[in-house]
Amino acid sequence: MKRKTEFDIKSIRLANQGKSRIEWAEKQMDVLRLIKQRFEKEKPLKDIRISACLHVTTETANLMNTLKAGGAQVVLCASNPLSTQDDTAASIVRDFKIPVFAVCGEDRKTYYQHLKAALDHKPQITMDDGADLVSELHSKRKKQAKDILGSSEETTTGVIRLRSMEKKGILKFPVIAVNDAQTKHLFDNYYGTGQSTIDGILRATNLLFAGKTVVVAGYGNCGKGVALRSKALGAHVIVTEVEPIRALQAAMDGYEVTTMEKAAPRGDIFITLTGDISVVRKEHFLKMKDGAVVCNSGHFDVEIDIKDLTKMSKTKEIPRTFVEAYQLKSGKKVNLLGEGRLINLAAAEGHPASVMDMSFANQALAAEYIVKNNNKLAKKVYVVPEEIDVEIARLKLKTMGIIYDKLTPKQEKYLASWKLGT
Ligand code: ADE
Repeated sequence: MKRKTEFDIKSIRLANQGKSRIEWAEKQMDVLRLIKQRFEKEKPLKDIRISACLHVTTETANLMNTLKAGGAQVVLCASNPLSTQDDTAASIVRDFKIPVFAVCGEDRKTYYQHLKAALDHKPQITMDDGADLVSELHSKRKKQAKDILGSSEETTTGVIRLRSMEKKGILKFPVIAVNDAQTKHLFDNYYGTGQSTIDGILRATNLLFAGKTVVVAGYGNCGKGVALRSKALGAHVIVTEVEPIRALQAAMDGYEVTTMEKAAPRGDIFITLTGDISVVRKEHFLKMKDGAVVCNSGHFDVEIDIKDLTKMSKTKEIPRTFVEAYQLKSGKKVNLLGEGRLINLAAAEGHPASVMDMSFANQALAAEYIVKNNNKLAKKVYVVPEEIDVEIARLKLKTMGIIYDKLTPKQEKYLASWKLGT
């Protein structure tokens, strides 16, 4: 076994299984594959050091391989202690020769050691899912920030953190908000989270959704996807929201909208996707039915007050993998899934490759964009340029064999003119 400074994974012996699963995912990632083929020829990332902090999955493996094909020197660490697929990590190290610092179930200290190892690579580009690398570069590694050409951010929560840094005037380098690309959040957050969250809950519990009351906290793109899929499985869906426009949308999409306080005694399954803290808390646990299931699919494990749940409980059992049954003093049990971490990645495999294809196409092209526009970018949060976003959609349609309509010259002229009215 190599020293932990070179990589730190569970076991290199898992690599065969990882390799075959990475190849399986690659077959669904047609857009990324096209980018990889171009990168192989053009080498737009030649000798650029990239440190990525992402969920270590088969889809991420294909992104890492694409960056490497573009000439980058890549290092990967986990963006969540529970989401690493150890077999994938092993194959990335063995087959792609990319150092990985990630072990599924790692504790907080190891998680931060792994971030540190990724930053020891002296990156010029960082890639985050939750802004942890950027946060380290602004707190403990300030001197290194001047070497960063730019960073890219995968998720809503990370973009919120980064925009807050930009607003406070403390952001030290440009960031591309990959999450905000339409080909990312309209698909990954909606279809990806919608399917993979249900997948995680089913793998953890094997519960039947039909006839259950599912409480979805948060009606952003992720919540919308989960509500839709829960309804399709036959559940009665209650949505809780704090923003009036989203609450109204949920109501007009046909869901019952109410407060968590009112939903607490009625729900069978609670799913948080708000990006905020303490969404399900003490007063809610007290009102829940015996056997209620509570899980989170938001980025950080802060949405469910686990500390309160622990304090309120007299015992905790593990009836199944990924399920912790907390017995309250009243005798009722509340089942917490996946330690309150992203259930889709803790208990399942995250979003399917076909949707990650577009998210990671954005990541690969964002890295290329940072290198190409290195001198022009300010210390700001940028959206992915529209031409990149649209090109990804165009390529995805092409690889799906979908032919779509074109404007006629007459229609183009009409849209470009302002003279024709009533
Ligand atoms: N985020 C959600 N699903 C993912 C996946 N399959 N790979 C990487 N990041 C993800």
